Amino acid sequence: MRDSPIPASGHVPCAPENVTGNGRVILDSLALPVMVVRADNSIGYVNSAAEPFFGMSRGHLAQMRLTDILPQDNPLFLLMEQVRAQDHTVVEHEVTLESPRLYRTGVTVQGAPVTEEPGAVVLTFHDFSAVRVLDRQLTFRSAARSVAGMAAILAHEVKNPLSGIRGAAQLLETSVGESDRELAVLIQDEVNRIRDLVDRMDMFSDRPIERRPVNIHRVLEHVRMLAQQGFAADIRFQEVYDPSLPPVWGNRDQLVQVLLNLVKNAAEALHGHADGAAPPEITLTTGYRPGIWVSTGGGQRVQLPLLVSVRDNGPGIAENIRPHLFEPFLTTKPTGSGLGLALAGKIVGDHGGVIEVESQPGCTEVLLHLPVVTEERGAP
Ligand SMILES: Nc1ncnc2c1ncn2[C@@H]1O[C@H](COP(=O)(O)OP(=O)(O)OP(=O)(O)O)[C@@H](O)[C@H]1O
Ligand SMILES: [Mg+2]
Repeated sequence: MRDSPIPASGHVPCAPENVTGNGRVILDSLALPVMVVRADNSIGYVNSAAEPFFGMSRGHLAQMRLTDILPQDNPLFLLMEQVRAQDHTVVEHEVTLESPRLYRTGVTVQGAPVTEEPGAVVLTFHDFSAVRVLDRQLTFRSAARSVAGMAAILAHEVKNPLSGIRGAAQLLETSVGESDRELAVLIQDEVNRIRDLVDRMDMFSDRPIERRPVNIHRVLEHVRMLAQQGFAADIRFQEVYDPSLPPVWGNRDQLVQVLLNLVKNAAEALHGHADGAAPPEITLTTGYRPGIWVSTGGGQRVQLPLLVSVRDNGPGIAENIRPHLFEPFLTTKPTGSGLGLALAGKIVGDHGGVIEVESQPGCTEVLLHLPVVTEERGAP
């Protein structure tokens, strides 16, 4: 079995001298980081994928012990002890690898004994953080879809009677005395509020979107202008734009709506935050990161290289609602409807994009990863 690149036992051979030429090629073509740790915790072998994972070159890693990279109380050491003691594979989920050099969380680590070398353990690291983001996206989308049906019913059943009520209140306004006129106006205002809500719900319905190349900077400029003329007049805006960005493949009006909701949330968070330590600020950033790929089914994968971020220096998102942010009707505001982020999630999902939120006190950032115009998509 020594000549076969990977033995039938499934164990990956240990030290570099044990990894045959073919074995190396195979291990290096794996996207999965693989590392062999000897009995004295020195690093015997790493494949190519381990270099970006640990943020160090192979040569550098090969001169180190695992104890130089991670503190000894890291669960990884316990896992290796178990592998050595029991001489079989041990898997641990949700491991955090944290040291001044490294921070990875939610990693699944598999440790297996190396038959040829007593005490050596081969470790493979499965980083599920990106998968988890996409998984959450799917959950948001299904939540949004259940709202879609309700939205259609609401739009149909509520809008018509509402226009009747508003028409009647308008008539009353002209025929009643001064004291009752206020009531007639109040009825119209409240009816308008319900109509706006129903209109927002209607956005959840599953209509195909019309797409064309959209200049995201124009969208952001428009949103900033609307915000500064209205709800964010007292807030400073910073813009950090990458001028060389290609157009987004999307629907301009819907993207305006997403970004307006995000900027409005940021402004509302800043208004509610009266500590006055730092001046309230919203930062709009764009960039090109050829990193995120998503599967669209049918074996197709699309790249989402365009990054748009809305960041504020407000108090941060309350811890208890973070896992549910994109669910409809979740709000902590007395007059909020809890539809802003649900709608943003739905629209970004319809664009084939991904939305992420990072939040801590003093810094909340919503990141959009969006597809760009390519030749197949009919770039101009
Ligand atoms: N930038 C932010 N900083 C702090 N909390 C935020 C921020 N953005 C969103 N949130 C929290 O997430 C909740 C949900 O936001 P979402 O936009 O979906 O609804 P809403 O703002 O409450 O209501 P609506 O957008 O429908 O007016 C908010 O109530 C707020 O608690
Ligand atoms: Mg909102």
